[in-house]
Amino acid sequence: MTTPRSSTLEARVNAGLDAFRSDGVYKTLNHISSPQDARVIMEGRGEVIILSSNNYLGLSNHPEVVAAGKRGLDEFGAGTASVRFICGTFTVHRELELACARLVGTEAALTFVSCWNANEALPATVLTDRDIILSDQLNHASIIDGLRLAKSITKCQTGVFRHGDYADLDAKLDAAGDREVKLVVSDGVFSMEGSIVDLPALLEVCRRHDAILWLDDSHATGVLGSGGRGTAEHFGLIGEVDLITSTLGKALGGAAGGFVAGSAAVCDFLTQRARPQLFTNALPATVAASAMAAIEVLEREPERVATLRDNARWFRGRLQDLGFRPLPGDTPIVPVILGETAAAIRMSELLLEEGVFVTGFGFPVVPQGEARVRCQLSAAHSRQDLEEALAAFERVGQALHLT
Ligand SMILES: Cc1ncc(COP(=O)(O)O)c(C=O)c1O
Repeated sequence: MTTPRSSTLEARVNAGLDAFRSDGVYKTLNHISSPQDARVIMEGRGEVIILSSNNYLGLSNHPEVVAAGKRGLDEFGAGTASVRFICGTFTVHRELELACARLVGTEAALTFVSCWNANEALPATVLTDRDIILSDQLNHASIIDGLRLAKSITKCQTGVFRHGDYADLDAKLDAAGDREVKLVVSDGVFSMEGSIVDLPALLEVCRRHDAILWLDDSHATGVLGSGGRGTAEHFGLIGEVDLITSTLGKALGGAAGGFVAGSAAVCDFLTQRARPQLFTNALPATVAASAMAAIEVLEREPERVATLRDNARWFRGRLQDLGFRPLPGDTPIVPVILGETAAAIRMSELLLEEGVFVTGFGFPVVPQGEARVRCQLSAAHSRQDLEEALAAFERVGQALHLT
């Protein structure tokens, strides 16, 4: 073990850590010694109901998904051992990419080690200094960083439009009339709000301006539409969105990985030029095999999506009956607004003491005064799990004089 030498950097990070603690925003990691499921074993606490994972379809610990990962390990070994174009690409990657494209309804797909990686790769690879990219104000951090990277690498113009305000987008596209490519990006489901993009309205503006639409469907894949095929299916618009990025780290087995889905030419161009394709190893084969199995389970058992939707609707309604103010919506993300950050953190601590694991979010992750605990439902939750969680909400709500 090395002892850190006294340095400016050490002093700076220690001061930063002290500030996080005194501001009440220091994050403590909870250690779990069981697979992700409706309930997990948390070190020091025992069994808790988990209401804060992205395991929307309950596939993280599904026997077929786990077995496929093991088979992947046996068949392909532990590592990819280099970059795809240098030492070869496993057949399981090709199968997974065909399955991703089939699921979201595009011509092709290309996997990355995470959707974060995909979101950074896409704009920085396809845009030039003659182009512009416009992003919804509430888009995920990976898209924000993707724009920053694209701007610094390609010198493209970047801009932000007000959340869900397509008149603002319209005006910004008007002003960008001279740009060769106009790319518009939005989350399909906004992760802190649980709201769904108004895809028909967004598409209409994009079409009118001959702009390309890119949706990040990370919280919509496996969740929206009767087959879990995402935002486009929800609106009956499969095939209409030009570019989709999504994650394999949430509904689709929850391990890791992401993909860009779009035309074969765009995916080929990314294979040729995207730096996270050219300079880093591919997704581990075990992870690819598990994600592949997760897609197969989803396609075979779309009723999981219906169960997820029922759970979310029922839980949201019951929270309201208890006197809480969950944000309205149709997704399994159910944020309960509490106001101050300290209130959200306190509520999350008390819920954990009651055996319910749900995370509190405050400023700057969400706007000042809109701190919340964000519940995320899963198809793995039974009514019994949710009844118990609601009983804890009731007790904690009363203890904090919230209801
Ligand atoms: C909207 C959105 N995009 C991208 C990501 C990143 O996904 P990954 O974990 O695959 O990097 C997330 C994860 O939180 C997300 O919510």
